[in-house]
Amino acid sequence: MREELKKARAYEEEMEKQIRPEDRPMFHLSSRVGWMNDPNGFSFYDGMYHMFYQYHPFDSHWGPMHWGHAVSRDLLHWEYLPCALAPDEIWDQNGCFSGSAAVTDDGRHVLMYTGVIRRTDEDGTDVDIQTQNLAFGDGVNYEKFIQNPVIDGSMLPQGGSFHDFRDPKLWRMPDGSWRALIADNHTGHGGWFLLYRSSDLIHWEYMHVMAANENRIGLMWECPDFFELDGEHVLLGSAQDMLPKGFEYHNGNGTFYLTGDYDPESERFAEKDNHSIDYGIDFYAPQTILTEDGRRVMIGWMQNWDTCNLHTKSTPWFGMMSIPRELSMQNGILFQTPIRELEQYRCSPVERKNIHLCDGDLRINGIRGRTADLEIELWPADPSVMYQRFAVRFAQNEKWRTGVSFRPHESTLKIDRKFSGSRRAVINQRRARVNHDRGRLKIRLILDRFSVEVFVNDGEKVMSAVIGTELDADGFSFFADGDLYMNVTFHQLMV
Ligand code: FRU
Repeated sequence: MREELKKARAYEEEMEKQIRPEDRPMFHLSSRVGWMNDPNGFSFYDGMYHMFYQYHPFDSHWGPMHWGHAVSRDLLHWEYLPCALAPDEIWDQNGCFSGSAAVTDDGRHVLMYTGVIRRTDEDGTDVDIQTQNLAFGDGVNYEKFIQNPVIDGSMLPQGGSFHDFRDPKLWRMPDGSWRALIADNHTGHGGWFLLYRSSDLIHWEYMHVMAANENRIGLMWECPDFFELDGEHVLLGSAQDMLPKGFEYHNGNGTFYLTGDYDPESERFAEKDNHSIDYGIDFYAPQTILTEDGRRVMIGWMQNWDTCNLHTKSTPWFGMMSIPRELSMQNGILFQTPIRELEQYRCSPVERKNIHLCDGDLRINGIRGRTADLEIELWPADPSVMYQRFAVRFAQNEKWRTGVSFRPHESTLKIDRKFSGSRRAVINQRRARVNHDRGRLKIRLILDRFSVEVFVNDGEKVMSAVIGTELDADGFSFFADGDLYMNVTFHQLMV
């Protein structure tokens, strides 16, 4: 084992002891120490779910990328394993960027990741050379393949860029051959996702473009994933530098999914439609797996590139993953629900039906805490007189609150974390258009100390946001402008 990896492993083991479990999320995976971004190598191997992540153990800010590693049996309880990859070879000397994992015929865990070499141009600008590389392991220790890289810039189609060529998604075809879908920048046109094939994982061949931005959704595209779901094909991606598009896409970096027709013969994908994956503030670079029992489950990085550097250097850990979300396709829309395993950890229930709320605020006894699962169903008291606004506030005390509010006349749901500890007036609110049947709406909130994930109408839309306030801001309140009824089911979560 090289010095760099030894150093990272020794450091994380020592420094982790200084972080109290109660200062982390209870059931969302957070960085063992230092910085975390994208989920990587999300896979099932040797009886365990493995999650790797973009990792800079030595600092709570982004730096030379390592791969952190954790395992879980249920995707809720995670155990850290030693750092899996460090940037210690000529092909990845400036970083082991994102990638994926699979299992070989002879039972090895294989990681495919992007190696970065950074060069300074004559005019002083930094440019990357990005290539795709392999590492084989036993679930704990990984050895980089000595003939790396296996895919490099010489295998790009005309117009491709080896400066932005990353995040391979690796999978197996029914005939045993391999595919890798890789993000690249089509110079002048924005990102595109390129498909490669191999019979032995070592020798690769470029096939074709699976999907192309053509300057529609942001600039560079990153972190592809591709799978079949409920008889349809879905392509996930993350886009940099988006411009807003109605309520669909927001300014900055965000996620999208493409639906379309996939032809198994030609392996081409004809895109039909696109939407955001998450309509909140903090969600990026998701990956999926198929669980043993056939569920497609997605986890994303619950952060935002525009705000992730506002914390101080002394923060011991930074970055966490979303709740694992079960995916389904319903009428061309990607539905997401919190993984069902979470339900066994519900306790201290408070259930109230037909609560009448008219022009005012309500607190309900027993509804309190920062690890919670709250379900709300709303409807107007008189269907012919629509209420103006409904809001639920949480992580609340005299000073702080985080909230979600619904305006049926506009059909918009807004998430607001302006009073959630943010030090900057940047991206603290977002609105999404939601479907409702004359003011009838369902909302489910999952709170885990430093985050909230809002599932609307049984998962038709999701909004995620991190929360920065002290944990004693743990109150809830319900507000109506107008006259409405609601059912409320509340549970504490003790995972
Ligand atoms: C996405 C991303 C990836 C890259 C990684 C680097 O968040 O930019 O494209 O591999 O982060 O940490």
